[in-house]
Amino acid sequence: MTEFFDQLIETLQNEALRRPGMNASQATLNELFSERKQTVPRELPAVHAAASAAPRAPEPMPGSSPAAPAAQEPTPRRQLVPGTLEHLAETVRHCRNCPLCETRLNAVPGEGNPHARLMFIGEGPGADEDRQGRPFVGAAGQLLDKMILAMQFRREEVYIANIVKCRPPRNRAPMPEEAAACIGYLEHQIRMIKPEVIVLLGATAAHFLLKREEGIMRLRGRWLEYDGIPVMPTFHPAFLLRQESAKREAWEDLKQVMRRLGIPVPAPGRTAR
Ligand code: URA
Repeated sequence: MTEFFDQLIETLQNEALRRPGMNASQATLNELFSERKQTVPRELPAVHAAASAAPRAPEPMPGSSPAAPAAQEPTPRRQLVPGTLEHLAETVRHCRNCPLCETRLNAVPGEGNPHARLMFIGEGPGADEDRQGRPFVGAAGQLLDKMILAMQFRREEVYIANIVKCRPPRNRAPMPEEAAACIGYLEHQIRMIKPEVIVLLGATAAHFLLKREEGIMRLRGRWLEYDGIPVMPTFHPAFLLRQESAKREAWEDLKQVMRRLGIPVPAPGRTAR
């Protein structure tokens, strides 16, 4: 968390921001979240979870000594209760709806609290996410983690998903046909999670979820709506890594989200604890 604030402080040219610590309001928030988790069942029990959902390993490099048999058995499908996020994730892991399934190592269904108040939606998995089968685990993911912490959430309290669940080769943006083949999964996830606020990371997410054509410079910082849910578009963390000066605006967007969720926003000009 400190690093994100440190970077912000730099960006704001030494305008100090108070780092939110585990103060009374944070403790209350945590308590509220854990109460919520206790009173709402997190997930219906699985009927069977026969096969492991462990991510597929990369193929060995040509010429290297094979450590395992070359032909891989297809991973058997886990039997889960239909209508749950885990069931949807298992369906995504076996999805062959578009050509991205040919080049992926692992599909990346999304992860987080099924009862999250806050949902983040990115564009699509990159190389790290493809290797691990988890969203936002690379460099952009590390920055997203700091943004989440700065907003007084833990990563496991929010839900993180993408427009497309499989990596577009060479990290290109998803094609319209790929997004069209995949968007139904995201729509179901949103319907199941029912977050209070959605943060869209980057123009691609806004384009495919909200059918907006404007660039992120125009869209960011304005409340939009998806299916009755308030949506805040902001810069993608990968962009923020390249364009440090945009962190100031991103933080303004995230503060709007905090206010909407009733989370105290740290006052400027206070020393970090
Ligand atoms: N960028 C995205 O949009 N999504 C990820 O999961 C990782 C990087």
